[in-house]
Amino acid sequence: MAFCENWDKLYRNNQHMSVWPWSDVVSVSLRHTELKNASDDFRVLEVGCGAGANFPFFLTYTNNVYGIDGSDFIIGQLQQRFPSISENLFCGDFTQPWPFNKTFDLIVDRGASVHNPPSSIKRYLKTALEQLKSGGVLVITDWFSTEHSEYESAPESIDKYTKAGYVQGPFAQVGNVNFFDKELILELVTDFEIISLSHTVNTSHNSEDRYASWNMILRKP
Ligand SMILES: C[S@@+](CC[C@H](N)C(=O)[O-])C[C@H]1O[C@@H](n2cnc3c(N)ncnc32)[C@H](O)[C@@H]1O
Repeated sequence: MAFCENWDKLYRNNQHMSVWPWSDVVSVSLRHTELKNASDDFRVLEVGCGAGANFPFFLTYTNNVYGIDGSDFIIGQLQQRFPSISENLFCGDFTQPWPFNKTFDLIVDRGASVHNPPSSIKRYLKTALEQLKSGGVLVITDWFSTEHSEYESAPESIDKYTKAGYVQGPFAQVGNVNFFDKELILELVTDFEIISLSHTVNTSHNSEDRYASWNMILRKP
């Protein structure tokens, strides 16, 4: 059974099949790492890689691309789509010990760990720190903010930060969604050097919805 049952179901129903690289991932990877001039031992890992939207971008520069996701369906699809890295793609829970013993120059977490409770995120960040090379970079995008309108309207509250039970809107059927404030983030990333931490709030004309999230670039000292 897939670890991320909700995501596995969504992918089997052809939903959330993002295929274009995320612009934040592109700009940070090019600006803050050596990806563009990747040496033979430069390695990239995307945790919660989903449908592999960022893979064609990484593969432009290196074949040392790794991915882990909790949906066995999506990992199977990725192995067919990207045969040159099929042995680097794993189905599993990235908040548990990783099924490979590699160190990385770049770890990308685009909207992935945000679906896990803080206790699991803490464990994952410890593993990420251990498996980054010295000076390596962890890029986290789309950690939803407690200022997001979906925070207040959550159908189920597991604790102060973790909400669930969404049946409509952007989090419909995704299971747990974690929301962060600065205090929680600083506590979680305490062992990293913070290169940047930004908070974005977007509102649209004619809508009461507020999209609010955190992006950060963290370095292993
Ligand atoms: C919003 S999708 C993001 C997919 C991809 N990163 C992207 O940007 O297109 C979240 C993904 O994280 C995965 N995920 C969340 N928590 C996970 C965990 N603890 N272990 C493995 N995968 C996880 C889900 O299966 C899902 O594919």
